[in-house]
Amino acid sequence: MTNTALAAADQGFEKSVDRLFDFVRIQSISTDVAYKDECEKAARWLVVELTGLGFSAEVRPTPGIPMVVAHYTPKSVSAKTPHLLFYGHYDVQPVDPVELWHTPPFEPTRRKDKDGVERMYGRGTADDKGQLMTFVEAARAWISATGGLPIKATFLIEGEEESGSPSLVPFLEANKAELSWDAAFVCDTNMWDPKTPAITTRLRGLVHEEITITGPRIDLHSGLYGGAAMNPIRVLTKILASLHDKNGKITIPGFYDGVKPLPSATKKQWRSLKFSDKKFMGEVGLAVPAGEKGKTVLEHVWARPTAEVNGVWGGYTGVGAKTVLPSKAHAKLTFRLVGRQDPQKILKAFQKFAKDLIPKDCKLEFSGKGGGTPASEISEDNAFIKKTSAALKSEFKREAVLIGSGGSIPIVRSFKDILGMDSVLVGFGLNDDAIHSPNEKYNLSSFHKGIRSWVRIMGALAE
Ligand code: BES
Ligand code: MN
Repeated sequence: MTNTALAAADQGFEKSVDRLFDFVRIQSISTDVAYKDECEKAARWLVVELTGLGFSAEVRPTPGIPMVVAHYTPKSVSAKTPHLLFYGHYDVQPVDPVELWHTPPFEPTRRKDKDGVERMYGRGTADDKGQLMTFVEAARAWISATGGLPIKATFLIEGEEESGSPSLVPFLEANKAELSWDAAFVCDTNMWDPKTPAITTRLRGLVHEEITITGPRIDLHSGLYGGAAMNPIRVLTKILASLHDKNGKITIPGFYDGVKPLPSATKKQWRSLKFSDKKFMGEVGLAVPAGEKGKTVLEHVWARPTAEVNGVWGGYTGVGAKTVLPSKAHAKLTFRLVGRQDPQKILKAFQKFAKDLIPKDCKLEFSGKGGGTPASEISEDNAFIKKTSAALKSEFKREAVLIGSGGSIPIVRSFKDILGMDSVLVGFGLNDDAIHSPNEKYNLSSFHKGIRSWVRIMGALAE
């Protein structure tokens, strides 16, 4: 049966690309309220697609952006047929700086680049519209070739992932019975390289903060007041510059609570991946890893926490000079978390750290929205990972490797904590997909192999 479904996937591939393009044209940016209607449009688009395939699909409201939930029960089910949850997100990141895009972000295009590789360009072609459509198109192939899916399936497609999934926890709590199944499959991660599939077993957590420091009541003449009035940018930069010591370690007291050393077996397995630090750094125009001394680059991004400044502003940044002594200085920060680091404790520790560096007559405010996601670690010896791994091997003719990822997918931890469900993370993205950047792309081979892989995985899970 799997073979006829694979043939259907191949035959329908051009149409699959067309559908992905229609989906990418919808400007579903979740982090900007101006695009709320577009997000709702993307949710409705998915419901139409899934209903057309025979799912019972609905747009499900949340206090924020809606979820899409769709169920499929095949006609001939046995008591042993597993029921699996498939998760992706239909929201995308903002497009700026838009002037750096070679083609408009919401007018998807495909082209064969100079290296002979065919790619699709547009915001969301990879993260996560292209990736989640690999599920949808694999389901379509099974249904059109054999009259149904070989498994019971629920699709949960979120519209707030790029905003930190604020509605997720209450939604999972309220719909436990409808969403708790044998395992969750998530398509939002990368392959190891174009020829080697991967299963991700670690994700970092994440927490945001935004800080504002106020010095003088108003902007001042830097000649008349300079020297006497404390400049808030001087205070802010002192805080930011104190976050790391000369060995790249984060200096916030208590920051490393809950960070465990990497097990030696994991270290050894990562060494066997033959990752090139030099190539990884070289691709982004760098050469010297900035993480903790004595740790490898893979450890830096997969197994160690970070404190990053994402933006700093204040004072005059327009054309020409202005002799101003500003009233306010601002910064946005994020912390990537590992192990058992607790997002709320990390925030508190950072806030205390900043307070301790504030002079008496400056004011400090925090305006982060709170929340945050702890890290996820998934045990490698579960039956679903084994079946998935075998299915990936039959598609790629290569063993799937187990990897970590430095990115975050908030739902994975909630699936475990709220629904008691393990996740299997398989994605077909590549490091050079430029997700969150200008000129995001997805290789046609990623999309095609992704669809074929899910066809095989669905088939393997039914056995
Ligand atoms: N798909 C990414 C995360 C990712 C990318 C994992 C590549 C593994 C490989 C996801 O959509 C993402 O970017 N998440 C945000 C989450 C945040 C806004 C809560 C992230 O990691 O910054
Ligand atoms: Mn994503």
